[in-house]
Amino acid sequence: MTENPYHEIQAKLRLAQPLPHTADWSAAPDFIGLIIEHTLQVKPGIIVECSSGLTTLVLARCCQINGRGRVISLENGEEYAEKTRQQLKEFGLEEYAQVLFSPLQKVNLDRDYDWYSLEALPEVSIDMLVIDGPPGFIQKNSRYPALPLLFDKFSEQAKVFLDDAGREDEKELVAQWQAEYSCVELEYLEFERGCSVLEINKTN
Ligand SMILES: C[S@@+](CC[C@H](N)C(=O)[O-])C[C@H]1O[C@@H](n2cnc3c(N)ncnc32)[C@H](O)[C@@H]1O
Repeated sequence: MTENPYHEIQAKLRLAQPLPHTADWSAAPDFIGLIIEHTLQVKPGIIVECSSGLTTLVLARCCQINGRGRVISLENGEEYAEKTRQQLKEFGLEEYAQVLFSPLQKVNLDRDYDWYSLEALPEVSIDMLVIDGPPGFIQKNSRYPALPLLFDKFSEQAKVFLDDAGREDEKELVAQWQAEYSCVELEYLEFERGCSVLEINKTN
């Protein structure tokens, strides 16, 4: 029998049931471990994430443990939004996370991109942003719009965690963010799929 790579995370979060995951689509254990560590340490109030799934479950569980905070997840696949809502229910975590069906729509920045509709996103001040979508194959630099479109909604100090940051597209779009936002500090972590952590300090 192959060992469940998320077993340690299940134990750390003191969850009775195994975490549902898929090898190709769920964030890797090192990335999940990092966002858990940050959430338990900093106890952010509002966590927004781009793409729902395993990340939503673990972040919601952290908010439950912290006794504060909630997750708002932007999900473009209606069936995946429903699946994550169902999993939140199965784990008794539905009050800590909200999955918004946010279809991809055209947005013009330095050029056209397809990115999550923000119509359903309530007025919030974002303390933590986790970016694990939209999938890379849909367009060049798929995740670039996250910063320009959410920047005004960040709290004065916020942290951004970008998964799959070892890919060429992500390296390019992070460099573009750095050139465009002087108040962003970058740390790159050599994770299984690479991870970029950005510290936003609007007072700088
Ligand atoms: C890389 S997945 C990340 C999901 C989530 N952050 C996690 O860790 O489980 C990004 C997107 O892929 C889509 N997706 C999830 N599972 C899928 C599957 N089995 N086949 C195709 N697309 C999938 C969903 O729309 C999801 O938002």
